[in-house]
Amino acid sequence: MFGIGSGLFTYAPAMPASSPFNPLDMPPRTPTARPESNSVGWSETELANPHMNDQKSSKVRGMFTSIADSYDLNNRLHSLWMDQHWRRAAVRDAAVKAGDVVADLACGTGDLSMAFAESAAARVIGLDYTAAMLEVARRKSARLSGGAAGKVTYVEADAHNLPVADGSVDVVSIAFGIRNVTDPARVTRECARILRAGGRIVILEFVRPINPVLRWLNDVYCGQVMPRTATLISGDKSGAYKYLPRSVSTFMEPLAMEELLRNAGFGGVSSRSLFPGICRSYRAMKP
Ligand SMILES: C[S@@+](CC[C@H](N)C(=O)[O-])C[C@H]1O[C@@H](n2cnc3c(N)ncnc32)[C@H](O)[C@@H]1O
Repeated sequence: MFGIGSGLFTYAPAMPASSPFNPLDMPPRTPTARPESNSVGWSETELANPHMNDQKSSKVRGMFTSIADSYDLNNRLHSLWMDQHWRRAAVRDAAVKAGDVVADLACGTGDLSMAFAESAAARVIGLDYTAAMLEVARRKSARLSGGAAGKVTYVEADAHNLPVADGSVDVVSIAFGIRNVTDPARVTRECARILRAGGRIVILEFVRPINPVLRWLNDVYCGQVMPRTATLISGDKSGAYKYLPRSVSTFMEPLAMEELLRNAGFGGVSSRSLFPGICRSYRAMKP
């Protein structure tokens, strides 16, 4: 477990288990070896509904291992540079206060963690189960400067079972990650567990636009154009960019997402659409 007490984040991943200073109340995690990316690909049949696949967890991790190095470039290009605007909107929705501790789940290459580091937050913990994504995140965060420098720590961890103490963080965020986990209900309950009373959760996730014209354009772009261009850029063989549109169109709708948060014990649940209508920001508070 993390010992986050008196505003002090005391995780020390490099320490041996025998160290008297080791704050982890569990054996050290073994870093995950990079899986063979082409052994985790999605078949057309599996893509009919990737959320129903009993190997979703290992396939998703293999997929992000395969695309980690080109992930940011593809994000910027294929969102037409909107993705960082969405993350900054999530930081605003989190209503960060001076001294807050933020846990950014499924942090990937760290863009949202770093956006929180630029806020009034005192500490940011980025957690993800794909080692290759965290490698990129750590490289990027080393370049943070000014007040943001040194605020972020990255930890390899599964969002279903977080090595974070109960009631120890002020904000939990998940950007484009809840759709990728195996059990979103369990993950939102984990979020509620680690938040202190009055703490906030912010989730960003893709949705299909409601407007029929936009929806058609979005379907053509995400279904036909983006899988080809993104696969070309990343050299991916795991089917990651075919998985993306299928995982969005088969994932829960906004009302179901809000219900999920209520069922996990959150109050004040609301959501808003972010321009141009393909991304939604959900927020809620732990009573
Ligand atoms: C689409 S990326 C989002 C990354 C980042 N949040 C962003 O805004 O770009 C999804 C991330 O979720 C992570 N992920 C998926 N399932 C996970 C799980 N069960 N536990 C931790 N991370 C998970 C993947 O490794 C990947 O880095």
